[in-house]
Amino acid sequence: MKTTGYHFQQKHILGIHHLSPDDIAFILRTADSFKEISTRTIKKVPTLRGRTIVNLFFEPSTRTRLSFEIAAKRMSADTFNVTASTSSATKGETLIDTARNIAAMKPDIIILRHSFSGAPELLTRYIDAAVINAGDGTHEHPSQSLLDMMTVQEHKGRLAGLKIAIIGDILHSRVAHSNILGFTRMGARVFVYGPATLIPRDLAELGATVCASLAEAVTEADVVMTLRIQKERQSDPLLPSLREYAQKYGVTRKVMDWARPDAIVMHPGPINRGVELMADVADGPRSVILDQVTNGVAVRMALLYLVMGNS
Ligand code: CP
Repeated sequence: MKTTGYHFQQKHILGIHHLSPDDIAFILRTADSFKEISTRTIKKVPTLRGRTIVNLFFEPSTRTRLSFEIAAKRMSADTFNVTASTSSATKGETLIDTARNIAAMKPDIIILRHSFSGAPELLTRYIDAAVINAGDGTHEHPSQSLLDMMTVQEHKGRLAGLKIAIIGDILHSRVAHSNILGFTRMGARVFVYGPATLIPRDLAELGATVCASLAEAVTEADVVMTLRIQKERQSDPLLPSLREYAQKYGVTRKVMDWARPDAIVMHPGPINRGVELMADVADGPRSVILDQVTNGVAVRMALLYLVMGNS
């Protein structure tokens, strides 16, 4: 990893696809340096004082929206939230018109979550503000992947050489897509397993190994990551019933016995307890799910700081 002559040059954070291993390592180091701020009694630094940050969320979110807002406020930025249900999108205004009108108020950063894959990239063509992708359709969720990598690095001391098992609905998961790109880019080996109808065909091109069984994916894994089964897609013929899904793809303590003894369990949230992940595993000693959430604030502080440095 280069340590001299490196300069973070990304104006926007649109996806892990756009980040080099040096970029990822630098973001993780920057996040690590910001993490301590959240442990102080007075959790505030002046780094982004006078900056204006708009959270523009067209899909529901608890963790991502709140942690971007907490990150911005801990760095003294002014933050504003716009959600689909309270915006003029309900009156038929297009995303581009909404973004142009928000841009006319001169924000420095727009953080966008949208159901349309590619929406954040589209926005960059119409506005001057830095754009951070907070999840776009089934495409990417870069800040989630970065906080996942930070969490694994904290618990394992490295990313290179680790076996990462990702279990579940890979097809619809922007988290899986970003994590396959991110972990393989950092030298980890990613193994995926899920219903055959929910495994995209291009996974090998992304560097992941598609497994024929849950045991193959989890055996000797250092990290077992389960994904949310998207209940809103239950009418989708691609999915078995929730009960059948839990039996075939749910991560139980018995499944975790196949993994390495020091393996950790991750989930991006929100969890469907008893479906993709059993409660005793989610709350058990191997679970680092709440560490992921804590690291989400640090990673998002780093992203806000770094894109401001390049605006
Ligand atoms: N992991 C994640 O994106 O969670 P939210 O939908 O609550 O933001």
